[in-house]
Amino acid sequence: MLALRDMRPRFVSVVFVVLLLVVGQAAATEQHLKPPGWAIASAHPLATDAGAEIARAGGNAFDAAVAVSAALAVVEPMGSGLGGGGFWLLHHADDGRQVMVDGRERAPQRAHRDMYLDAEGHVRPRASLDGPLAAAIPGEPAAIVHIAERYGRLPLSRTLAPAIRFARDGFPVTSRYQRLVKLRMSVFNRVAKQVFLVNGEVPRIGDLIKQPDLASTLTLMAQQGHAGFYAGQVAKHLVDNVSTQGGIWVAADLSSYAVVAREPIRGTYQDVEITSAAPPSAGGIVLVAMLNMLERWDLGHLTQVERIHRIVESMRRAYRDRAVYLGDPDFVSIETSRLTSKDYANKLIGDINAYATPSQALGVDRGEGRDTTHFSILDNEGNRVAATLSINYAFGSGFMVAATGVLLNNEMDDFVAKPGVANVYGLIGGEANAIAPGKRPLSSMSPTFLETDDALAVLGTPGGSRIISMVLLAGLAFAEGSLEAEKLVNLPRFHHQYIPDQIVFEPDAIEQTALVGLKLKGHQLKPRESSYGNMQAVIWLKNEGQLQAASDPRGEGWGAVLLNRPP
Ligand code: GLY
Repeated sequence: MLALRDMRPRFVSVVFVVLLLVVGQAAATEQHLKPPGWAIASAHPLATDAGAEIARAGGNAFDAAVAVSAALAVVEPMGSGLGGGGFWLLHHADDGRQVMVDGRERAPQRAHRDMYLDAEGHVRPRASLDGPLAAAIPGEPAAIVHIAERYGRLPLSRTLAPAIRFARDGFPVTSRYQRLVKLRMSVFNRVAKQVFLVNGEVPRIGDLIKQPDLASTLTLMAQQGHAGFYAGQVAKHLVDNVSTQGGIWVAADLSSYAVVAREPIRGTYQDVEITSAAPPSAGGIVLVAMLNMLERWDLGHLTQVERIHRIVESMRRAYRDRAVYLGDPDFVSIETSRLTSKDYANKLIGDINAYATPSQALGVDRGEGRDTTHFSILDNEGNRVAATLSINYAFGSGFMVAATGVLLNNEMDDFVAKPGVANVYGLIGGEANAIAPGKRPLSSMSPTFLETDDALAVLGTPGGSRIISMVLLAGLAFAEGSLEAEKLVNLPRFHHQYIPDQIVFEPDAIEQTALVGLKLKGHQLKPRESSYGNMQAVIWLKNEGQLQAASDPRGEGWGAVLLNRPP
């Protein structure tokens, strides 16, 4: 039996510790090994609810991850979906096995490195962003089925049931939905307009968005698994619609899609063990590289100026490596051991001095996405899932495939349309991330576990290239003893990604005096008018038997803790 402890959880441990003692001897020896219940945090209350429903139905964290992924695909269509992809970082409690399920989209077979260039060799504006030519072959349906079949214990008919219900009965419009619809409605095709607008207008708050075709596609997946999406009528609709409306998909692109189980990236920072996303995400390598550099200083005893200066210089160098070296590991060779080694970090910090290093003195880069989503789950056996999913920019390519409810991604924009030349969003990248048939575009998505002997955090966030710096700031806070999920998701944020050579920061993230100090050191400062990111974190304090779940106040999500009941 599980009891939903707290709708917007703060501190829930005290009550539970009492309950554990009631359970008796067996529980007393177990309490350091097993969490006292479940913790789930996602970007939408209905998705968290779907996870809780699966927990109560006897599923494990992997079943819940299937339910939450599918629910987010329905109720947060601007962030992720069946037409997109993502990375699911899994931890098995029984044997400590960890794996990253790579459900990243792949370039279609007919893609080629110059496909977004005009006859003069110039990048065609928006060609990799809007419409079906911007869409890579989706990986999320394959990942959902793979996780259910390989790691779950409930059938897909049970784990997809909440998402099917939400698609059939509708989800209510929120202010975030309205804002992002306004941003992207001009690129919606006719089918997407019918689903996401009401009479061609932005719907009102509380209006219900129903997606009967998506409910049917999810039902086919529940009945047929992988083939429910990648073969049969859904695959036919996808290929026919894309290929007749400007895209280049063929049936073999779908029938040949497969997830890849990858070894996560691992590192340490002081006594914290870090497990994070492997390429084709840059997340884990860049995160570990930054932490390796920062471990050389006692950050806790520095002034804000000196602390931010060192963090920014570490970001600059690690993001430089992202631009130069990283891409799909099935296509380019990546020296992971070297890039994540302490020796290499020592070399990198060799030229950090009291002043900002101009990025031009180091080299080229690429940048940020507009949407995406993350969720974190810990079950009462100790299984964990951190998953960051995406269709890239808000509402992806804006192209919904008729009769399927599947909104396609625009993840092709995460490739470099022309090496060394900025794309439409000012992003620049290297040869390692050039377009090739079947290749996965480089990502920044960084689902992450942070663990010490006493504490565990499962976290991640959307936010394009800023994902990695947000996870870094949360990681530093965790290492410095900030063991409250709410604090981690609330942290003020600043970011540097090598190029553009500037510190971007949230309003009030840096004190006025520190801003003056950073300027004197030669840093370019770019204040943002609004906040960014949407972090979802769960924390387990092992010795105290305490569980926390928190959803970023910048978003509309929900963190829930479900406590075991004594028999
Ligand atoms: N589409 C954003 C990312 O993968 O980083």
